[in-house]
Amino acid sequence: MPELGLKVNGRSVELRASHEASLLHVLRNDLGLNGPKFGCGLGQCGACTVWVDGTAARACVIPAHGVAGREITTLEGLGTREHWHPVQQGFEDAQAAQCGYCLNGMVMQAAALLAREPNPSEARIRSELSGNLCRCGTHVEILDAVQRAAL
Ligand code: FES
Repeated sequence: MPELGLKVNGRSVELRASHEASLLHVLRNDLGLNGPKFGCGLGQCGACTVWVDGTAARACVIPAHGVAGREITTLEGLGTREHWHPVQQGFEDAQAAQCGYCLNGMVMQAAALLAREPNPSEARIRSELSGNLCRCGTHVEILDAVQRAAL
């Protein structure tokens, strides 16, 4: 398999991966970063969201070799156990998690929004998260969580 150089959470890593391997597969299976989740595998649910050069992106449909050398940030690189990212804190404070499967995508998508727009309107938050699916239906709490982080 061809060599692949990635920059993940500020760390350079070298590994071997097939040309068909998705970024999500490499992150989870080769690098042990299980923050991003496999949901649909089709770019439609948002569970696998990571940042590529600071922009939220669906890792399940990105070829790993296509982002060689780019800055990849996963949930593991967003905050630490000691110092959560404000969006993570917002989710805790709002008790927005139910099953938790969508949380990676919700947090990464919302954090990317707040990095660009520190105080977005409710409509803007709704629009930004409209492509991230929560099967438990905790959208009201999720909106609350992001608004807490935006204050
Ligand atoms: Fe990537 Fe659903 S698993 S968008």
